[in-house]
Amino acid sequence: MAELGRLLPDITVSPPGAVCERYIEILASTECLTLTARRARRREPSGLSHDPIVWSAARGANVIDADGNRYVDLTSGFGAAAVGHGHPKVVEAIKLQAGKLLHALGDVHPSETKVQLLERMAQLAPFEHARVILGLNGSDAIEAALKTAALATRRPGVLAFDGGYHGLSYGALATCGYKESFRSCFAQQLGRHVVLAPYPHRTTSDRNSCTNRAIQAVESCWDRARLPIGAVLVEPIQGRGGVVQPPEGFLAELDRLCKEREALFVVDEIYTGLGRCGSWWRCEDEGVEPDLICAGKALGGGLPISACIGKAEVMAAWGGPGQEALHTATFFGHPVCCAAALATLDVIDKEKLCQRAEKLGDKLLSLLRESCGSSPSVVEVRGAGMLIGIELKNQAHAVAIVRRLLEKGYLTLPAGVNNDVISITPPLTIAPELIEGFVEALDEALFDVASL
Ligand SMILES: Cc1ncc(COP(=O)(O)O)c(C=O)c1O
Repeated sequence: MAELGRLLPDITVSPPGAVCERYIEILASTECLTLTARRARRREPSGLSHDPIVWSAARGANVIDADGNRYVDLTSGFGAAAVGHGHPKVVEAIKLQAGKLLHALGDVHPSETKVQLLERMAQLAPFEHARVILGLNGSDAIEAALKTAALATRRPGVLAFDGGYHGLSYGALATCGYKESFRSCFAQQLGRHVVLAPYPHRTTSDRNSCTNRAIQAVESCWDRARLPIGAVLVEPIQGRGGVVQPPEGFLAELDRLCKEREALFVVDEIYTGLGRCGSWWRCEDEGVEPDLICAGKALGGGLPISACIGKAEVMAAWGGPGQEALHTATFFGHPVCCAAALATLDVIDKEKLCQRAEKLGDKLLSLLRESCGSSPSVVEVRGAGMLIGIELKNQAHAVAIVRRLLEKGYLTLPAGVNNDVISITPPLTIAPELIEGFVEALDEALFDVASL
C-alpha cells in the first residue's frame, strides 16, 4: 500500500466542499478584492461555484483540502515543491534550525547556514568564481541582477521579452512582457528603461532561419531603445508565459550579441533551474554562459528564498572601499530558509532529480502526445523535463479542463498570455503511476469539454 505523497486522488466531496466554501466566504470579505472579482467573473457564464479549494495538508505529490479530498498536485505549488511537498529531509532541517537559531542579523552578523548556502550556491553556478546575493522571492533575485548590471555597465537600459515573466515588484514588473494589464495600471510609476523584444517560438521549420529572424528582431528593438542597454534579461523557456521554447541556437546567438554589444546576459532560471528541465541549469543545455543567473521557487523546498548568482568580475561593481550595503533587507539570508535550501539542494543531488526529471518528463511528454496530441482541442504539447505545456484551442477550453481536472483530483494551472495553455510542473519526485492516472484523467476531461 503506497503512502501519502504517492497516492492517486480520492475525491469524496465535490470540490469545493462545504468547509472550503466557508473559508472562501471569509476570504471574500477580508482579502483584497482580487479573489471576489475573479469569483464573480468565473461564476457568471456557468452559474456554478468555481471557488478554489483550500489546502489543509500536503506531502510528496499529494494535497489534502479542508474537506478531506485528496489531490495529485501537478503544479508543485507554482514550482516551489520540486522535491515534493514537505520532503522529510527539508522538514527535518527546518525543525533543527528553528530550534537553534530562528533569525540572525543578515549582512551585519550572518548565520552559519547563510555562509554554508553561499558556498554551495557559488559551487553550483554555471561559471567559475561566482558570487551570490540572496533574496526571498524570485523578483528579489531579478532586482538584484538588474541593479548589478546597472552598477557594472553604467548603462540603465534593459532588453527583455514579450511574454516574459519575472515577478511583480516594481523593478521586476517593468521588465515583464507577460501581460500588458499587469503593467498598465502602474505604468506611471514604472521606469521607462525597458524595451521588449519578440520572444521566438520553436517551430519545425528551418532552425537557422528562425533564429536569424529572431535575432534581427532583437537587434532592431535594441537599436530603438531609449536608453543604452546594459542588460538582456531572458527566460530559457518561458514558464508562466505558456511554456514557450525558443528555437535551438537562439540563446547562444543572444549571448553572442550581448558580448558584441557589451551588455550583461542575465538568465532567469527561477522556473527552469534546479532540476525542473532535466539539468541544474537549462542555459547549460543550451551551451550558454550567462553573466548573471537567477534562481528561486524550488530552492527553498517550500520556504521563500532566491539567489542572484553573478560572475565575480561583474559582482565586483558592488565593492569599493567605504561602500554601504546598498542592497539588503531584514530577512535576506534567513537562517531557516538557508537550512531548507541546503537540504533541498542535497535532495536534488542525492535523489538524482535532474536525471529523474529528464526521464520522467520524456515519458510524460510522449504519453501526452500519444493520448491527446490529435484531440481537436489541443494545438500543441511541448516542454522540457518536467516543465510541460498543453496549448488548447482557446482560453475557455483551458479553463474548463483545469476545472474538470480539479474535480477529478488533479491540480493544474492555466498559463500563457491568453490563458490557453495548461502548465504541468509536477514534483520531480512524483510516482510514475500518478502521471499515468493524470494522462487518463486529461483524456476524459478533453472528451467532456469537446463540445465547448
Ligand atoms: C521565470 C520567473 N521569474 C520570476 C518569477 C517571480 O518569482 P516570485 O513570484 O517568487 O517573485 C517567476 C514566478 O512565477 C517566474 O516564473
